[in-house]
Amino acid sequence: MIDLHNHLLPGVDDGSRSVTQSARVLRSFVAQGITDVVCTPHLLASQAEFGWPEHYESAWSALAAEVPEGMTLHRGAEVMLDRPVGPRITERKVTLNGSRYLLVEFQRMVPAEIAARALADVVRHGLIPLLAHAERYSSSSVESVRVWRDVGAVIQVDATVMTRPRSRGELARDLVREGLADVLAADNHGDDRSVATALDWLTEHDAAEQAILLLDTNPRAILEDKATYEVDPLVIRRSAWTSIRRMLRGE
Ligand SMILES: [Fe+2]
Repeated sequence: MIDLHNHLLPGVDDGSRSVTQSARVLRSFVAQGITDVVCTPHLLASQAEFGWPEHYESAWSALAAEVPEGMTLHRGAEVMLDRPVGPRITERKVTLNGSRYLLVEFQRMVPAEIAARALADVVRHGLIPLLAHAERYSSSSVESVRVWRDVGAVIQVDATVMTRPRSRGELARDLVREGLADVLAADNHGDDRSVATALDWLTEHDAAEQAILLLDTNPRAILEDKATYEVDPLVIRRSAWTSIRRMLRGE
């Protein structure tokens, strides 16, 4: 598996505080079958075109020396689109592994139309916005995510939110059920969040093919700057259909 979104660059944002903490997370990732991680520290839109600030670079060097065997680290950023990105964003200094894909997020209360316009603006720069935790925003819904995909965004859903009972978890599951999620990621902040969490839910829902696409094939395509594959909506299980038929027949 591959994780495109996390805060493991130590001591630079609200994520992992130290190299030791990040190395511990990376070792647990390796044990769970995760082979590649993109470090995506927070950046403001106004900073993004200039690349990582100097202290991100030194944190990267410190972490690179402690990466466990079986794990490959890549570079990226999570860009807060509170304003338009500058023209030099096309130099791809903070895109995911130097690809066309730019991981972006919004303030929680962003209206759906404003988000759509900002995503379209990234597309106009010749980049592909990968929308972080698409289930999180107050305007997030199956309908608004369809619009965001239509303007050219690729959709990331949080793997750990998928297993939560409340409304945000329900929307995360709906996005996967509807085939509107392109990748799952952990958004780990030096804690125990992992993409592997989603595997159980996908297995229970007979979604082996979707699991491979969401956790491996599509994130790999992004790392390699290739197009992602469409993910099929989940089919309601045969057992579920049996009970639906019974219910409709009044049995
Ligand atoms: Fe994040």
